[in-house]
Amino acid sequence: MTNRRVVDVHLGTDDIDKALRADVTGGLTAEPKELPPKWFYDERGSELFDEITRLDEYYPTEAERRILVDNAAAIVELTSPATIIELGSGTSDKTGAVLDAAVRHRTLRRFVPFDVSEAFLRQSVDVLAERYRTLVVHGVVGDFDHHLPYLPSGDRQLLMLLGGTIGNYQPKERRELLTVIAERQRPGDHVLIGIDLVKDVTRLERAYDDARGVTAEFNRNVLAVINRRLSADFDLAAFEHVARFDTEEEWIEMLLRSTVDQTVRVADLDLTVSFEAGELMRTEVSCKFRRERFEADLEHAGLAPVEWLTDPAGDFAVSISRR
Ligand code: AVJ
Repeated sequence: MTNRRVVDVHLGTDDIDKALRADVTGGLTAEPKELPPKWFYDERGSELFDEITRLDEYYPTEAERRILVDNAAAIVELTSPATIIELGSGTSDKTGAVLDAAVRHRTLRRFVPFDVSEAFLRQSVDVLAERYRTLVVHGVVGDFDHHLPYLPSGDRQLLMLLGGTIGNYQPKERRELLTVIAERQRPGDHVLIGIDLVKDVTRLERAYDDARGVTAEFNRNVLAVINRRLSADFDLAAFEHVARFDTEEEWIEMLLRSTVDQTVRVADLDLTVSFEAGELMRTEVSCKFRRERFEADLEHAGLAPVEWLTDPAGDFAVSISRR
């Protein structure tokens, strides 16, 4: 069959390289130092994240899967999608329940996985095209801060943003992202977003500081990425993993704490930075939500909430909205 699989590439290795250099230069010279979470995910980082999703302490993945499985038919009934778009698709494994239900519902024609990693995306486009013989699988390689305007258009779209990924955005950036999403919505389209909910602080912090230290290794992996890609000499053993819930902002912060006074050289950037013993560098924020606050963000962006689904324990939510 021809053109049942398509991959559009809007992001090349040069763009990614430039962005990494800019983020590392800016982040290591800022006060306090900070690195954006998107650089965790090289091959090792993606493996570690996958391991995180299977930890007992890390409840979001299973909770979201449960919501999607239990409500797949209702979601499809409500949205009747002809196209499903998944932002930050990874391997799209949790999307399966919704895709299956939409195929059974006979409205779905096309699945559009969107991801930054071209290699991962091509692999999953192949797998998905095999599994869903009646669908067009149209992969798009891009960064969702820049390339949402390049998503294919068409009627009755269901745009999904799963996993609590939106939690990585701070309030202002989150509202901007939601506004960009809202602006491309046409009548009949829907947005489905998975979000982690505010809960007991101990459980929240354990989810980001597991007993086996997988999350700690994931956190330090950003330093290994910079070592490899920018010829830096971070000593990973000289940084400690820190995860704490900020009750004011209602977000988890992950940080790396320098255990000693030290100097790090980033050769490719011709940059030398010093860390004091005890100095903290933030590597991620992961926002936790309450229904009112999230729905206020949707409305601010011009989206009207139409459904709010949670798992039985009330740990995680899936919100459906439309313009
Ligand atoms: C992929 C951003 C949803 O915030 O829970 C997991 C990333 N970081 N453990 C999250 C993450 C540490 C994850 N998101």
